[in-house]
Amino acid sequence: MPVKILLFGKTGQVGTELIRTLPQLGQLKPCGREEANLEDQESMKAVIRSYCPDIIVNAAAYTAVDRAETEPDKANSINAEAVSLMAEEAKCLDAWLVHYSTDYVFDGTKDQPYIETDQPNPLGIYGKSKLQGEGSIRRSGCKYLIFRTSWVYGAHGSNFIKTILRLAREREMLDVVADQRGAPTSAVQIAEITAQAIPAILGGTMGAGIFNLAPSGDTTWHELARRVVSRARQSGMLLDLKPEQIRPIKTKDYPTPAKRPMNSRLDTSLLTQTLDITLPDWQSEVDCFIDYLVREEARQ
Ligand SMILES: NC(=O)c1ccc[n+]([C@@H]2O[C@H](COP(=O)([O-])OP(=O)(O)OC[C@H]3O[C@@H](n4cnc5c(N)ncnc54)[C@H](OP(=O)(O)O)[C@@H]3O)[C@@H](O)[C@H]2O)c1
Repeated sequence: MPVKILLFGKTGQVGTELIRTLPQLGQLKPCGREEANLEDQESMKAVIRSYCPDIIVNAAAYTAVDRAETEPDKANSINAEAVSLMAEEAKCLDAWLVHYSTDYVFDGTKDQPYIETDQPNPLGIYGKSKLQGEGSIRRSGCKYLIFRTSWVYGAHGSNFIKTILRLAREREMLDVVADQRGAPTSAVQIAEITAQAIPAILGGTMGAGIFNLAPSGDTTWHELARRVVSRARQSGMLLDLKPEQIRPIKTKDYPTPAKRPMNSRLDTSLLTQTLDITLPDWQSEVDCFIDYLVREEARQ
């Protein structure tokens, strides 16, 4: 019998990439909002109980970090209560739950990259709701993998890189925050690592737990923005803005409804040692993504 995998969040940045990597592992049922709304627990139960998966992969989440400050109930319902239900159902079915969490569970005051056992202390509603989701999985007694990742970008959906490319066509000058450090993580990489981890958990070479997942190296939003514009111009994208027209500013000069951690760096030693892999550096992944966007634009 092939392994049955149920995926929530099939339309998201990570979800759309998982649709490419998971079918090689078994029988995949991708699920979107129309099949199961995470704010409607009965619809989730119905999907899980009718499919009886061996593995639930949850790439669905409420990810609007700033809007969460004014929609705490919605953020909690999707990021905490729905996740709690998935964990309970996984426990009943003796299924694995593979879930994604965030650097925003930390307050960013550590001066080193965060390891999995560091004390979380989220600064905003989004981070709190994701931490509650993590907690309910751990308490449920189900078999689980939680990948904590950061600064996600992908081909489907909106993200920082796409926003910078749009603004690079509209602006002659751009101010970008230069005092928050982290690593931009590609949805492709997350989906590929997930597909490597699943055989490892099923084969017993990887145990349950939380694992940080990010590329190697780290940067700032400002440095990332400059690299994006520079690479896009080199690759032939017609942009008015030049990298040197992106100016560094401080977080305090760019107020947002939700406070962000100044340090979002995640130590990935546990993941790389467990899976015996080397993670690519963030620059090569970003370059690959830009080249993909340039090719897509040329095709249209
Ligand atoms: N984005 C980041 O920078 C970032 C950083 C760190 C960690 N993460 C974590 O990584 C994971 C994947 O993030 P992502 O960037 O791929 O997210 P995303 O692109 O925002 O996608 C979110 C997905 O959740 C679905 N969803 C939201 N509300 C739903 C509901 N009520 N019912 C059913 N589905 C619902 C969306 O469906 P619709 O398309 O129908 O709305 C979409 O498929 C999440 O757990 C996130 O917390 C993300």
